[in-house]
Amino acid sequence: MSQAVQQPSVVPFVATDAKAEQIIAAGLAAANGPVALACSFSVEDVVLIDLLHKMACKVSVFALDTGRLNEETYEVAESVSLRYRLAIQWYFPKRQAVESLEREKGLFSFRESLDNRHECCRIRKIEPLGRALAGKAGWVTGLRRAQSVTRDGLAAIEIDQRNGGLLKINPLLNWSDEQVWAYAEEHRLPVNRLHRQGYPSIGCAPCTRAVQEGEHPRAGRWWWEN
Ligand code: ADX
Ligand code: SF4
Repeated sequence: MSQAVQQPSVVPFVATDAKAEQIIAAGLAAANGPVALACSFSVEDVVLIDLLHKMACKVSVFALDTGRLNEETYEVAESVSLRYRLAIQWYFPKRQAVESLEREKGLFSFRESLDNRHECCRIRKIEPLGRALAGKAGWVTGLRRAQSVTRDGLAAIEIDQRNGGLLKINPLLNWSDEQVWAYAEEHRLPVNRLHRQGYPSIGCAPCTRAVQEGEHPRAGRWWWEN
């Protein structure tokens, strides 16, 4: 059973030009309990694992295995786990929900309508995310403002009302693509091979494709909906 956690009601002040380490430190100080990193094994998330490791922070790492991830994602996950001696907390969707979905609607129902896509994401991501966040006082993500217009208004630390009021800590919010890649190269981080094959953003295999030069970085996610 997860422990009830006293959720913070005040977001700590963080300067607009704060470094990732300062955002992490302020977030951890403000959280009244355990904090976890949500890791999709994108280059951003591996940068965060490296930073947290160097800061010797007590932050666990969880990942949602939707059952539809790319082989390359599983491979980089294993490399990261070995390099940092990290016990990744994997979460898998509920067996019965996936079995019913696949039996009733087939394996690609998410292509047929927005409702179907949301249904699949609810089963494979949202429900397991809820379990991963239960008992947590905060979570760290690799979200960046540069990724999309909807992430423009992102704050360094915010109260995540959608997930029960825990702290959401976004240390890389102001990082550019160039900064992320310079860090990854300088520290020789294990990187998902798909990034080098035209995938700036990586989600589930059937819902992510490579993007062309000049296309938006997230244009390859659920591309048929655009
Ligand atoms: S998504 O909502 O569009 O799928 P995106 O791939 O941009 O998200 O990733 C943004 C952040 O969400 C990542 O840095 C990571 O913190 C979290 N995240 C996304 N997918 C997963 C996953 N499968 N497991 C754990 N965390 C994830
Ligand atoms: Fe399902 Fe695609 Fe959502 Fe993954 S991204 S959970 S496969 S709809």
